[in-house]
Amino acid sequence: MSEIVEVPLPGREYQVRIGTGLLARAGAEIAPLLHRKRVAIVSDAHVAALHLATFRDALTAEGIESVALTLPAGESTKGWPQFTRTVEWLLEQKVERRDVVVALGGGVIGDLVGFAAAVLRRGVRFVQVPTSLLAQVDSSVGGKTGINAPQGKNLIGAFHQPALVLADVGVLGTLTERDFLAGYGEVVKYGLLGDAAFFDWLEENGRAAAGGDLAARTHAVTRSVQMKAEIVLRDETEQGDRALLNLGHTFCHALEAATGYSDRLLHGEGVAIGCALAFELSSRLGLCPQEDPSRVRAHLAAMGMKRDLKDIPGDLPAAEVLLDLMGQDKKVIDGKLRFILARGIGESFVTSDVPREAVLGLLQEQRAAC
Ligand code: GLY
Repeated sequence: MSEIVEVPLPGREYQVRIGTGLLARAGAEIAPLLHRKRVAIVSDAHVAALHLATFRDALTAEGIESVALTLPAGESTKGWPQFTRTVEWLLEQKVERRDVVVALGGGVIGDLVGFAAAVLRRGVRFVQVPTSLLAQVDSSVGGKTGINAPQGKNLIGAFHQPALVLADVGVLGTLTERDFLAGYGEVVKYGLLGDAAFFDWLEENGRAAAGGDLAARTHAVTRSVQMKAEIVLRDETEQGDRALLNLGHTFCHALEAATGYSDRLLHGEGVAIGCALAFELSSRLGLCPQEDPSRVRAHLAAMGMKRDLKDIPGDLPAAEVLLDLMGQDKKVIDGKLRFILARGIGESFVTSDVPREAVLGLLQEQRAAC
């Protein structure tokens, strides 16, 4: 059983297929894209140990040959050294312009391999096979690819849309609860930014999804991907509406920088805290009903997720330092911070019109409670 979300970008249309058993029938899913029956797969050590054999067997069953490169697992892979290694390996494997490269893994692999595919021979097609919830609902769809620079995350990259995305929700069963819930931070984001009915559904069904209910997982991923696809179609290169996908991210990026991009705070955990703070700020500015921030926080609490600065282990810098770190965000334009705020649950908007004192006051209160 699988759901299909179409991403009909003119000339680069593709499908996101979401469901169970997709990995085991990957050969049949991918075969129609191939000019010759051979693909190059890039994965990481952690994912390869769990899923590479299943994936390759599925290719073999359709007579598709494969070669595979396994990179080290972890965010530090997403830089020039492993990127160079990947591009050179793809050239050594004689991957041609009409061939297909497969990214089998989470966001790090998807972003790095997508960027390698974007530049290899000036662009080859690639298939995303996301294995984390975060990658299934966000990074594998929409064509943002890239690597980190010493100056910051995701600062080097290209827009390069995949030719197909296979999101097998069955593989989410191998995630730790913490990793699942971190990805769920991005799922909640979709409800909060543009679909109040989906947020209602998450309040009802989020626990079932976290507990392993495959129908609930399929729906959560499908609705998230539909929303992402709609936004990417309106604004592929983030000139406007695509920034809505960054709800919670301005706070999140500051908190990730303050915690050294470490295990103290996973990206999706920072997004969840950032969403709670964005609603709190919206309420204080009189933009959304006062009860909305409590409702957001209540759902995160019911899911057992972090929602305040005090939930982050270890010391955090002063509020002024956090505010300064927010100023390093990629979304700063002409020195002005762009925030995604909300008029209510499911009604977010982009603004640069946020008084510094309001943000500082909120961060000071949150810091004082730590
Ligand atoms: N992850 C945000 C975006 O794809 O625009």
